[in-house]
Amino acid sequence: MIKIAPSILAADFAKLGEEVLEVEKAGADWIHVDVMDGHFVPNISFGAVVLNAIRPLTKLPMDVHLMIENPDLYIEEFAKAGADYITVHVEACPHLHRTIQLIRSFGVKPGVVLNPHTPIETIQHILEDIDLVLFMTVNPGFGGQKFIHSVVPKVKQLSDIIKEKELTIEIEIDGGINEETIVACAEAGATVFVAGSAIYSKKDRAQALQAIRKAGEE
Ligand code: DX5
Ligand code: ZN
Repeated sequence: MIKIAPSILAADFAKLGEEVLEVEKAGADWIHVDVMDGHFVPNISFGAVVLNAIRPLTKLPMDVHLMIENPDLYIEEFAKAGADYITVHVEACPHLHRTIQLIRSFGVKPGVVLNPHTPIETIQHILEDIDLVLFMTVNPGFGGQKFIHSVVPKVKQLSDIIKEKELTIEIEIDGGINEETIVACAEAGATVFVAGSAIYSKKDRAQALQAIRKAGEE
């Protein structure tokens, strides 16, 4: 069973509440919340105030993807706003172990994100401490970009390590996921799939989401 996490970055912000409820009704498993600071990535999205506003609308897990520098400064705020998962970029965390412990200290499940070119060796010594690894399959900062295929072998590599070590870690893929690109990622062992434009740009969100799920489960 795979999980689908629609990214609200692609939603209509003028009616964000309805947009969250619509993907919940469509069968979403998690809600993916993309936080961008204009420094770590060349775009600004929104902060914890938005998570705080949508949190009471649904029981679905909130998957908060921090594309920000100095994430330690904001983790408490996102935890209090109701994050279930908080993922931080290995490229933004010189003291990754400390950051992971900080996330867990608030009762939130920690995860680490790797940019497309970042090798999995960077997280080799922290696998026992995390619940989730998120592979970027686009350069973070914007929705609607083209999937980068060269990430797929990394996914397989990590999936093999997780099996060998008998760890319980979700492997999530983020960027350019659609009915076609999900197939190779699912085969490589990924378990959670973010989809922004492939769901929110479609009129029938339920049909779009189910088509992606079906392609990933085949
Ligand atoms: C990119 C974000 C993604 C993005 C995905 O920086 O982390 O979550 O919203 O959007 P699509 O599915 O359109 O690539
Ligand atoms: Zn994301």
